[in-house]
Amino acid sequence: MAAISSDIEAAASFLNDGELVGIPTETVYGLAGNALNGEAVARIFEVKERPSFDPLIVHISSPDQVNSYCEEIPDPLRPLADKYWPGPLTLLLKRKSIIPDLVTSGLDRVAVRVPSHHLTLALLQILPFPLAAPSANPFGYISPTTAMHVEEQLGDKIPMILDGGPSKVGLESTIVGMEDGRVCIYRLGGLSVNDIEAEVGRVEVKSHSSSNPQAPGLLKSHYAPKKPFILGDLKELVLEAGDQVDFGILSLSQSFKNIPAERQIQLSASANLSEAAQNLFSSMRALDALEVDRIFAELMPEEGLGRAINDRLRRAAAKA
Ligand code: TXA
Ligand code: MG
Repeated sequence: MAAISSDIEAAASFLNDGELVGIPTETVYGLAGNALNGEAVARIFEVKERPSFDPLIVHISSPDQVNSYCEEIPDPLRPLADKYWPGPLTLLLKRKSIIPDLVTSGLDRVAVRVPSHHLTLALLQILPFPLAAPSANPFGYISPTTAMHVEEQLGDKIPMILDGGPSKVGLESTIVGMEDGRVCIYRLGGLSVNDIEAEVGRVEVKSHSSSNPQAPGLLKSHYAPKKPFILGDLKELVLEAGDQVDFGILSLSQSFKNIPAERQIQLSASANLSEAAQNLFSSMRALDALEVDRIFAELMPEEGLGRAINDRLRRAAAKA
């Protein structure tokens, strides 16, 4: 059992001792350690059972701190940092040597973000170092959006989880960087492509790549429940299942009269995609925990946050 509380002094004390703490962010909960301490960073990989070729995001309390750890933000990315930090935006920036190799898996860019959560920002402000934090789930499983999710899976491996309530965005940050002078999105996430393009013009979305070993967040099968997760037209899937009512249903807003209510989850009754994003991971977990053999799910409209939700749904449905 980890201690679960909103005591940032206690969290700071563990982190100062090189230990790991679950931290709330607006996207998902993170498994945090001192980003400048190689042993703490190594422990993150161990606790998460994460391959060491998967680099970590470094969390800082304010954009002013970027220069301590990275080279200048390239001009084309500046409007994004100005507008969306703190927020669900991660920038890939050229790192300075103070960042341990293990954090970046030896890459020359480091992923940096200023999270938008009052507790974690207050914690970062009293710490003399930034926090490396991947999502606080075992590698490949669904990301946590509450302190209880973290407790269920990592509670016996870490001393404390800072409880900041349910994550408001519910999808991991959008990862953005420059390549050949162009702005690229490497992972779709809680900041939509439209919002990014409104600041910087057309961008290239690279996250369709199915198996980039340098970024397992982009692996084809990731963010996955333990049960078979089947994407399709829900009406057809239900019809095909016939009398075999051994499934749970994840829909945007539709419900099915002949299926027990406790086996179906609507992400947003009003089909609001921000609300759907917020509910996505906890709903996938809830269905995974039901007495059902498989989960049927449908894609969202490919617009706004629907694109990032669909990215997660496709990876959840992909075979390893
Ligand atoms: O919202 C989020 O980003 C959450 C919260 C806790 O901040 N964190 C998160 O971390 O989702 P994680 O470790 O689950 O996913 C980070 C992904 C990696 O899988 C990798 O794809 C990419 O970020 N990444 C990190 N550093 C990178 C780098 N230097 N170059 C390329 N990709 C990088
Ligand atoms: Mg993750």
